[in-house]
Amino acid sequence: MIALKQYITRYFSTGIFILFVLCFLSCNSQVTTSDFEDRKVLFTEGWEFQQNEDITNIKKILDSDSWDDVNLPHDWSISKDFDENSPTGVGGGALRGGIGWYKKSFAISAKDSSSVFKIQFDGVYQNSEIWINGTNLGKRPNGYIGFEYDITRYLKFGEEENVILVKADNNDQPNSRWYSGSGIYRNVWLKKLNKVHVPQWGTFVTTPEINNEEAVVNIKAKIANQFSAKKNISVEIKILNGDKLITKTKGSEFQISSNNENEVEEQLTITNPKLWSVDKPFLYTAQVNIIQGDEVLDRYETKFGIRDFKFDLEKGFILNGKSLKIRGVCLHHDLGPLGAAINTRAIERQLEILKEMGVNGIRTAHNPPAPELLDLCDQMGFIVMDEAFDMWTKSKTKSDYSQYWEEWHEKDLRDLIKRDRNHASVFMWSIGNEIQEQWSEEGAKIGNELSEVVKSMDTTRPVTAGMNPPVHVSDEEVTIQFEETADQPNALAGSGALDIIGYNYAHQTWEKHQLNFPNTPFIATETTSGLQTRGYYEFPSDTTKIWPVRWDKKFTGGNKDNTVSAFDQVRTPWGSLHETSWKIIKKNDFLSGFYIWTGFDYLGEPTPYEWPSRSSYFGVIDLAGFPKDVYYMYKSEWSKDTVLHVLPHWNWEKGKTVDVWAYYNNADEVELFLNGESKGTKRKQDDDLHVMWRFPFQPGTLKAVSRKEGKIVKETIIETAGSAEKLVLSPDRKTIKADGKDLSFVTVTITDKQGNIVPRANHNISFSLEGPGKIYGVASGDPTNHQSFKGTEHTALNGKCLVILKADEEAGTLKLTATAEGLEKTSVIIQSKNK
Ligand code: GAL
Repeated sequence: MIALKQYITRYFSTGIFILFVLCFLSCNSQVTTSDFEDRKVLFTEGWEFQQNEDITNIKKILDSDSWDDVNLPHDWSISKDFDENSPTGVGGGALRGGIGWYKKSFAISAKDSSSVFKIQFDGVYQNSEIWINGTNLGKRPNGYIGFEYDITRYLKFGEEENVILVKADNNDQPNSRWYSGSGIYRNVWLKKLNKVHVPQWGTFVTTPEINNEEAVVNIKAKIANQFSAKKNISVEIKILNGDKLITKTKGSEFQISSNNENEVEEQLTITNPKLWSVDKPFLYTAQVNIIQGDEVLDRYETKFGIRDFKFDLEKGFILNGKSLKIRGVCLHHDLGPLGAAINTRAIERQLEILKEMGVNGIRTAHNPPAPELLDLCDQMGFIVMDEAFDMWTKSKTKSDYSQYWEEWHEKDLRDLIKRDRNHASVFMWSIGNEIQEQWSEEGAKIGNELSEVVKSMDTTRPVTAGMNPPVHVSDEEVTIQFEETADQPNALAGSGALDIIGYNYAHQTWEKHQLNFPNTPFIATETTSGLQTRGYYEFPSDTTKIWPVRWDKKFTGGNKDNTVSAFDQVRTPWGSLHETSWKIIKKNDFLSGFYIWTGFDYLGEPTPYEWPSRSSYFGVIDLAGFPKDVYYMYKSEWSKDTVLHVLPHWNWEKGKTVDVWAYYNNADEVELFLNGESKGTKRKQDDDLHVMWRFPFQPGTLKAVSRKEGKIVKETIIETAGSAEKLVLSPDRKTIKADGKDLSFVTVTITDKQGNIVPRANHNISFSLEGPGKIYGVASGDPTNHQSFKGTEHTALNGKCLVILKADEEAGTLKLTATAEGLEKTSVIIQSKNK
């Protein structure tokens, strides 16, 4: 592998670039969409890092010799020990923050001294401050928004090295209600541009008219001239389907004065447009070419989708003329054991698991997401609610973003809209989550101000907010929960700032929405907050537990080992069981949909418990990415795949009264057999979402058979497991790319001799790897586990554990070996290949 430093020097300085431009000029008509990708290169390798809260002088930091080599994205908090006394709090994941410094040296060839160089950070948590060759470029408090600096005038060209220094200050705690991570946790890009170019987020592509025959595409493109002389240029815009040219403009000539920015606006028509939908997320590319004479000075590409949508008062959400329920989940930005450090494959895996469940929507709770998440949502088909803030002027944790609100909120919001408004998957802007000001006139005022900012930049999407219920909630428990506010009108809801009334929880009020808000459609921005530990069950399964009893009361109940039953029977007082909320959404056409709290478990907020728990119980899927049982309830409702999921496991005390549930679809009934003897046939009645049997436990074989019109549709068998004997390693992918980034997620199952999962096995498993790769993370989904996610051993939770392997840039064979006391050692081979 070539070190990035050398790569940049070579790439930007040698004939490669010239050759490349020449080739482009001579074969203009054959250029593919990827030709100009390299106007920006990843700038993530060869950095150095140190955590240091003591040195404030940048010269001293640069001179210090305690730097470690790192590649970005990097989250230093995830490697810390879990600590009850961490200033981040248990709500923040019990992992410490602090102050981190990053530096990188790089040379840029003298030949490139006439180009413009910009550095783009997709997200630094938080309070970043950046210097190049000793000059301060600026600060950015917000830890989730991307930003860019023009570094051209500070660069030294030629052999001499440039040094970029980044400070990330996450010391002032607590500043987040969930795990934030610390450091340069998203990608960094170096851009090399002609002095005439499309600036950052410089295009806005909309589709003002869409019908079956044609779609009108409107493209606005900013053109910046950083020359000190005016320039005569022409701008040609092409629409491509992959590499194929669909249509293009004639090219408009104009003059752009020195150090100025102009905007070009063009319309093109696509005949027989392919629409973007959640099932067929088709994307086009708008390519802006800035041309001077024969030379293409810059090429800037924007992916976009053609889709028509509306939130209807009666019919709910309509996409391309058809009603579509938004079956969404809220997601925090952490990637479980990988912490906040983004990895595209890890995000893709999360989305694959959600797609498989039938999810079609993502709410980016409660902040701007990684750009890679939105790219994947565009490509895979999700309805995204893109959220800006968790607080405005009033804080939720002592040192949170509210302290920067006044100075930064407008810029942060504008940058979010500019950054994300071309994404086909983004359908709604959320200006905030459970904002404290919502109850006062101040909230109405700020809501209107923010909404106007959004509208000034994008009128194609509605504005909403995840409010607390704006109307009185009659249910006793919820009334108690919102005691102080229940009789007070929600000023934000009544302010007219919102195009869609969005609120969190209070499912009891949803069906009354049209009475309360006859003119504004509804979206359940956040729902459920059910609680589960994967693979742990309590009987009877049909009694509901409300944990904690009240949101403002310390939870004293629960289980000694901080477990929660995985039957859908435990919920927070503000939330609901999973089935309750879905039944209401399903039944009422006018309810556009919902976003369940949450798709995946996340670090921090271990409701209902406190320490030693350090991560959430809300996920439909656990922190390691293993589905909990309720995943299959949703899958049976939302997916076309045939489902017959039976719970719990089949290892209980003889004679104990147990409940057996089945989630099923595509069938009329399910018959259950224990050791060949029928336990009865059950059919879902009315709006039931599962069936249940109750009888005394006997070990053996539990078999469920689903039938439609008498014909067998599916059979599911669970055996009583014997003692733990083996480890089974199942990689999600056996071949990965040797690109230094790709991952293989290997599920480790503890089984008996016959291969049945041993349902409460919790062996500590050690891993070793041979070959060109790394053990990049380990996890089990146990919210109380305090072993490092970055270690090479982990205790299984209820028979399962996860190990994540990361490819090096060298291809080869990876051999992963797992060992645990009393179990047979086992290995699996994964190939890492060059493209
Ligand atoms: C909501 C809040 C979320 C999360 C959730 C837990 O009120 O918006 O961020 O805290 O509760 O149930």
